[in-house]
Amino acid sequence: MRTVPALRAQVRLRPMCDADVDAVLALDALVHSTAWSPDFLRSHLDLPDSRTNLVAELNGGLVGHGALLVVADEGHVTTVAVTPDHQRMGVGRVLLAALCRDAGRRGLVAMTLEVRVSNAAAIALYRRFGFAPSGVRPGYYADDGEDALIMWIHDVGGPGFKARVDEEAGRG
Ligand SMILES: CC(C)(COP(=O)(O)OP(=O)(O)OC[C@H]1O[C@@H](n2cnc3c(N)ncnc32)[C@H](O)[C@@H]1OP(=O)(O)O)[C@@H](O)C(=O)NCCC(=O)NCCS
Repeated sequence: MRTVPALRAQVRLRPMCDADVDAVLALDALVHSTAWSPDFLRSHLDLPDSRTNLVAELNGGLVGHGALLVVADEGHVTTVAVTPDHQRMGVGRVLLAALCRDAGRRGLVAMTLEVRVSNAAAIALYRRFGFAPSGVRPGYYADDGEDALIMWIHDVGGPGFKARVDEEAGRG
């Protein structure tokens, strides 16, 4: 357990807004090899029926963000990212718990995501919430041709799902 409870308790989540776009892109530039354009990111905002975009703040600064795309009765986690200085302090867990709870509130039945097969940190985080590998998309990432691991949760909204999310949300 490497969470820093006092710090994590100060993390605040709120919906992402237009004014966050530059800070989100700056964060992504630190942790991802490819970047979304500002306009593409902006096009994801203010679509409450199909998208949830959250930012995590600590002491007024943006330290993470996460997003969910709703497709029919499934939720696709499109990103979870935490600034390098604040990783391994529970911020990613807080963000993913919020996206999972959002999926439950929306009445979705499943959640899925793609993650680089080499991304052990993210895969470990996703496994904690019950995401299980279901296949590989060969060469999914255009920048370097890395494969994507496809992960699914099929019991969204069920008692086991709620218990896992509550446990992770309360950890630390
Ligand atoms: C993946 C990422 C979002 C995790 O966020 P984080 O805030 O550092 O993660 P947390 O502190 O909430 O960790 C929660 C759990 O995930 C797992 N985990 C997180 N980072 C890990 C690491 N580097 N190695 C192994 N397990 C890790 C652990 O089980 C951890 O629990 P523990 O600390 O009690 O052992 C973060 O590393 C990140 O932003 N990476 C770059 C962007 C990225 O790859 N995003 C995912 C694909 S879009």
